[in-house]
Amino acid sequence: MLTLTNFQERFQKSFFDKDPILPVITVAAAATLIYSTCKFISYKQPQKQNTALKEIPSPKCGYPYIGHMWSFGPLPGKTISEWHRDLGPIIKLKMGVRTWIVCDDPELAHRIFVTHGADTSYRPYTTYSNKYFSNGARGIAFSQPGKHWDKSRAAALSVLAPKKIKNYLDSIHRETSDLVTRLLESTEKNGYTDPYKHNELCFLNVVFKIAYGRSFDAIDDPEFLQVIDMIETSMKFLALEKDKPNFLPIVAIFDYFAGTQAKMKHFTDVVRNPAFTRFAEEALLRDGPNVVKSLKEDGHNLPDEDALVLLGDFITGGTDTLSVTFSWNLAIMCHHPDLQERVSHEIDKYIQVHGKLPTFDERTQVPLCVSVLKECMRYRPTTYFGLPHTADRDIEVDGYILPKGCTIIANMDSIHKNPKHYPVHPESFLPERYMNNLKTMQAAANGKLDQRDHFNFGFGRRLCPGTYLAEVELFNAFVQVFARCKIEPISEDEYPNISTARENAGLNILPPPYKVKFIKRKDALIHV
Ligand code: HEM
Repeated sequence: MLTLTNFQERFQKSFFDKDPILPVITVAAAATLIYSTCKFISYKQPQKQNTALKEIPSPKCGYPYIGHMWSFGPLPGKTISEWHRDLGPIIKLKMGVRTWIVCDDPELAHRIFVTHGADTSYRPYTTYSNKYFSNGARGIAFSQPGKHWDKSRAAALSVLAPKKIKNYLDSIHRETSDLVTRLLESTEKNGYTDPYKHNELCFLNVVFKIAYGRSFDAIDDPEFLQVIDMIETSMKFLALEKDKPNFLPIVAIFDYFAGTQAKMKHFTDVVRNPAFTRFAEEALLRDGPNVVKSLKEDGHNLPDEDALVLLGDFITGGTDTLSVTFSWNLAIMCHHPDLQERVSHEIDKYIQVHGKLPTFDERTQVPLCVSVLKECMRYRPTTYFGLPHTADRDIEVDGYILPKGCTIIANMDSIHKNPKHYPVHPESFLPERYMNNLKTMQAAANGKLDQRDHFNFGFGRRLCPGTYLAEVELFNAFVQVFARCKIEPISEDEYPNISTARENAGLNILPPPYKVKFIKRKDALIHV
């Protein structure tokens, strides 16, 4: 007999593992509801209220009730890029009971997120982000504009400001140098290496040291693995398929049996919050600067509950994003041995004159390095959609109505291949396109639209506050690698696959797992 417990277990398995049974159950439930009212949803656009208004087109491939939720395939960015090719720069998707507006035109995105930023800088509700991750919309990443968010955002911008990051440059230099040593040692030991875990250790260490004043020793350090596991668990809970009742209220009962929310609550209350509280308590007692101390000492006056979530935002926002970005960078560079040589030569020329590696402040003296870093992020963006925004009221942009409460996102894949913004071979990897735009990514992101180098850090009032820290880390890691190594494929016909991405990977776009060789340069001018 099917007891409640084994029904729950079976359901949990099918629901969580994205078993094909789910769409069947969902479609069946939805169809009953829909046919009973003899209405078949066909994504008719709402009646025009004004002849000057334009309808936002919608792909024809949706299902009743669930809409386009199961039409994305394993690589949502690619599917949506194809829809943009057919339907234009702005499209409307039905996500169960919710509406998503997706845009891939830089000018339109700028008008939506920046010009109309006062109305479009809200975050849409999702169960995990609002109720659990942010302990009830605290911190900044998932809180709403208003007193709380203003205070947390001001604190974040202050502790991550370039002059504060200067206090951590030695530690960033050490961590990125250790990264390269580990990549070389791992290649020597195994004949190849998969850099992902090493990247995670490096970038977690940088942000953890800044936030809590400490770091971790090795990729098998149990505490490191525990923190990475917490970040990955959060990323999984943030993914679309873990929030079905929010999109499909009809499946709330199944979700209850699957125990999804109970798992989210248990993770937040029993695993994450106690660990992060302990890290903060220990940070206050440690020598040297850290963000926990700055939040107490620099007059930010943030309640402890907000500080806890804000620090969690930093750790979650500042580890995976950088590990993914740098993994793409290394994989792409493996395909371009000539470019590796030119980059190494540029760094060597700097070392010959100055006797040391260039710092981020000296980046204009290694313009090719800066250009390659920017081009890798344009060519293979870090996230599918950045973080979603929503509007607090109906707004009209370029004759389109974006309804109150809709989720508004930029499709990072096709926005970065837009031929108006990137007129020279937008589909090709061409670092030289940036040789005349060496300003920091932070300055470019805050500047005029025509000066934006890429859109990976988002838009307007919500722009990533960690942009400067991120680019300092990437720059340091990049010059360390190419001052000391060459990256080679493990064999003539086994290069990292950079023409697709890891499937169903969550918010970030990860390259498929790969192995490469980090070979010590015989002519390196810098040794550790
Ligand atoms: C390559 C690295 C990174 C990428 C691609 C990235 C990307 C983003 C994006 C797309 C957003 C949302 C922007 C929007 O809503 O329009 C964001 C927000 C945020 N990021 Fe980053 N980020 C990176 C690194 C970092 C780092 C190093 C930190 C902190 C240490 C950080 C902390 C945050 C926080 C706290 C927010 C929320 C801001 C808000 O909602 O007001 N990020 N990031």
